[in-house]
This record gives sequence, structure tokens and C-alpha cells, in this order.
Amino acid sequence: MHTPENVETRLRRLAASGETLNCYIYDTAPMRSKITHLKEIMPAGVEIFYAMKANPHTAFLAAALEAGAKGIEIASLGEAEKAVAAGFDPARLIYTGPGKSPEELQWAVNNGIRTVHIESLTEAYRLNGIAAAAGKTQDVLLRINADFDIHEAQTTFSGGSKKFGVDEEKLAAVLPQILALKSLNFRGLHVYAASGVLNVANLLKNCELVFGMAKQIEADFAGVICDTIDFGGGFGVDYLETDHDFNPQAYADGLQALIDCYGFDGRTFFLELGRYLAADSGWFCTEILDIKDSRGIKQVICAGGINHFRRPAALAINHPLALVRMHRKKLFDGQEDIRAESVYFGGPLCTGADKLANDVFVEAADVGDIAVFGLAGAYGLTMSNMEFLSHERPQEYVLD
Ligand SMILES: Cc1ncc(COP(=O)(O)O)c(C=O)c1O
Repeated sequence: MHTPENVETRLRRLAASGETLNCYIYDTAPMRSKITHLKEIMPAGVEIFYAMKANPHTAFLAAALEAGAKGIEIASLGEAEKAVAAGFDPARLIYTGPGKSPEELQWAVNNGIRTVHIESLTEAYRLNGIAAAAGKTQDVLLRINADFDIHEAQTTFSGGSKKFGVDEEKLAAVLPQILALKSLNFRGLHVYAASGVLNVANLLKNCELVFGMAKQIEADFAGVICDTIDFGGGFGVDYLETDHDFNPQAYADGLQALIDCYGFDGRTFFLELGRYLAADSGWFCTEILDIKDSRGIKQVICAGGINHFRRPAALAINHPLALVRMHRKKLFDGQEDIRAESVYFGGPLCTGADKLANDVFVEAADVGDIAVFGLAGAYGLTMSNMEFLSHERPQEYVLD
């Protein structure tokens, strides 16, 4: 990875203050152009939602709004409030995720959000009661835990025993109960197979499966139409720099072929994308405070660790890494440095789990240089252990 020029310029400006550097830098231009591009190439009926769990920073919400995302996928009341504050009308919100509290469902109903994605029968009955008491009818999708697992994905959301949705084989028993709930308006299905998928064929397989389920439902239940189908998120990014990025055009072409094949023209399809939209709009930048040899392997200690950037440790992968050299004077003769070797990067936390990168080859680095981790715009600060050891929260800088 190369550090983009605008990111490096900002880092050098920040470094001039003399303070220890530990921050996220965001440039949402890539996110904006991805939304624009997806809107251009996707089949008619596909609507792009930003899954704000990837990065709830106001700059990312503004980028989604300005680039013309259809709306926001929310998974909590906190997210709903942030999305509305950023300018999204509640009617542009779709609400997913297990364990929605009565208060959260009440907010959804009161504010007229577009769809609530039911994750269980309990949730269906709870929502129905709330909507009935409010004298409203709520549009819902039913989330299915398909009997299908994308083994090579970073995180899977369906297949086997899962907390997400209703098992596919229980559909025949569950759906009639949901259809009987008078304050819910069943609009269709939500099946989200996996996150971080680079193989287009795998995600298309999921689409085909859902189309098959929709057809079956329509055959089994007279008068029921699945007019809205949510494929979830899942478009991957190339963390390992293999030069095999997700190919959205191949996905769009494959989806169009499926729509044609199933005669599903005129229906609505949701894509709720997080990682693919946000990842390459952010960099985690942290100063190297110490370098030491431990039994033949250099340990590189940075100002921020999993408290600020937990993803590499949580997912056991290395993110792309570059160094911004600061050429600081050594503190003493014999101070360790890195010269063309594979090393370990960690943070300042008192746990062996505090890993930023393992066995990563670095050409040259010294104490005082800045380690820049790329593809950190998605699931960066937002999924980190911020409170652990009570370090100061990293700054988040947005480039113009
Ligand atoms: C329901 C739901 N939708 C969308 C997403 C976003 O997924 P991705 O970042 O893989 O696009 C997630 C991620 O966990 C999710 O749980």
C-alpha cells in the first residue's frame, strides 16, 4: 500500500505540532464514487442503503446522503438518531438486527420508518402489539437464516444455528402467523449470507436462493407477493492486496440475469452495504513509540492498539500497511530499528490480544514514524475496545 498524498500531507502537518500522533483520517471521495457507480450499473429496482454500522461518523452519513444512497440501514435507536440528524428522513431507514427493544420498535413505528426486518416470531408479535396500539400498520421484511453458508467469507450470517432471522425450514410454520398479524404488512424477505465476500458467484448464489424461497412462498400462500427482497451487505474489499477486488459489474450482470430468469422485474431489491462503501475512505494512523527485539522478532509498539483499531485482531488478518517516515533523531546509540524484516505490530494495551499486524514485512521504520493502516474506514473505531485502559479517544480528521 502507498499512503495517499493528501493523507500524508495531513499527517506531516499534524506531526508538526509535536504531539503523539494517533488518529483516523477520512476522505469520503471513494465512498461517494462507489455509490454513484453502483447506482449507474445495478439493475432497475435495486436500491443502495448504507449500513452505517461500518462507520457512523457524520462525514460518512453526509457522503451517503450527498451521493444519493436510497437510505440507511440501522440496527439501533442510536443509529436511527444519528441518521436522522444527518438529514435522512425516517422513511428512508430500514431497521435490521436481532434484539430490538420495545422502545426501539416504538420509535420505528412512531416515526414511520420504511421497513422493520423481523428476526423472530417474538419480535413480530412485539412489533404488531406496538403498531396496533399506535393505530398504525408497519411494513416488514422477514429475515431468513438460509440453510447456506459461504465458508470462505470473513463472517457468516446464515447457515447452521444462528441468532439471525428464522431458520429456512421453519418458514412454512412461521409465515402464516406473521401474515395473520393485522398491524404488520409483509413485504418480502431478507437473507444476508455473509460479510467480506470477494467471490461474486457466492453472493449471487445467495440471491438465487432467496428468489427460490420467494417463488415457493408465492406458490404456497395465495395472494402473497414478496415485492421487496433484501440481500444484505457482504461486498468484500481486498484486505490482503491480492489484486482481486470485488467486481460490482459482474454482480450487477449476474443479478440482472437472475431477475430475468425468475420474472422478478418490477420488484424492489435492497442492498445494505457497509464495508464495500466505507473501507477505502479511512486510514488508521498511529505513531511508533517503541521498537524492540524479543527473541529474534521485532515488536513494534504503537500509540493505539485494539482500543482504537480492533479489526485486525478480531478477524485475525493484517490490513494493508504503509509507513510515513519522520526521520526523528535516535534517543540513544543502539536504539532498535527495522530494516527489511518481518515484524509484529501491537498497541499499548496490557493484553497479548493487542495485535495490529503479525508477521508483516517492513522495508524500513524507526521510532517516531507513523504506521498507516489502510481500508480502515469500515469497522475501524466503531468496533474497537475504546474504554480498555482509558486511553484518550483518537482524533478523526476529515479531508476536504
Ligand atoms: C443486517 C446487516 N446488514 C448489512 C451489514 C453490512 O455488511 P457489509 O459491511 O458486509 O456490507 C451488516 C453487517 O454486519 C448487517 O449485519
